[in-house]
Amino acid sequence: MLNRESVIPARVLIGVTGASGAVYADRLLEILAEKIERVYLVVTNAGEKVVKHELSAESLLLRSLSGSLGKLEKGVIRTFGVDDLFAPCASGTSAPDAMVVTPCSMGTLSRIASGNSGNLLERSADVVLKQRRKLLICPRETPLNLIHLRNMTALVEAGAEMIPMMPGFYQKPKDINALVDFCVGKILEQLSIPHDLYKPWNSRMR
Ligand SMILES: Cc1cc2nc3c(=O)[nH]c(=O)nc-3n(C[C@H](O)[C@H](O)[C@H](O)COP(=O)(O)O)c2cc1C
Repeated sequence: MLNRESVIPARVLIGVTGASGAVYADRLLEILAEKIERVYLVVTNAGEKVVKHELSAESLLLRSLSGSLGKLEKGVIRTFGVDDLFAPCASGTSAPDAMVVTPCSMGTLSRIASGNSGNLLERSADVVLKQRRKLLICPRETPLNLIHLRNMTALVEAGAEMIPMMPGFYQKPKDINALVDFCVGKILEQLSIPHDLYKPWNSRMR
């Protein structure tokens, strides 16, 4: 499942937009905060509204936004305002090892695809691409129009990886958490971070 020679990233930026699916970002944040050295967080203005609509105030994501993290969490998670263009991740000299935009709206996706960096999330994605680091885009929209598809193609051509938030059902998920973990596991695999969110398919035959 994992490329054993890949290096686990130490510093990962999570970008959260106004697409539905804040729970994906919240779960990814929980797991990365346990497994890596530093997690940066940038949430768009629309993202903040959707996060508040979809998550409870106790979620790690909302506590990160409201500045009410515990001491240990504070040591790992750094939240930057979406207009803070002086943040380290706005420059190639301080680019994170990898960036994950989840959930990614079609609006942010189009702006990254066209290099139209109007906020810290979009600028950071632009930096990650130009520095040839890993950029994982996790779009959430359906149905997709031709503009969406063309923007996705442009991003993949530029070096990004497209990981649509599309849970599979062959693992017979027991609840919504299992569906979320399926999608988050796909992100972790592309980051070369081992996880046990689900069993590999047919592991007895390995
Ligand atoms: C409740 C809610 C759910 C939304 N879900 C999606 C979605 O799944 N995908 C999408 O592309 N836009 C979705 N939108 C629209 C985006 O929030 C909107 O296009 C916004 O301008 C995106 O801004 P951003 O890319 O800066 O975050 C949703 C909006 C709301 C209020």
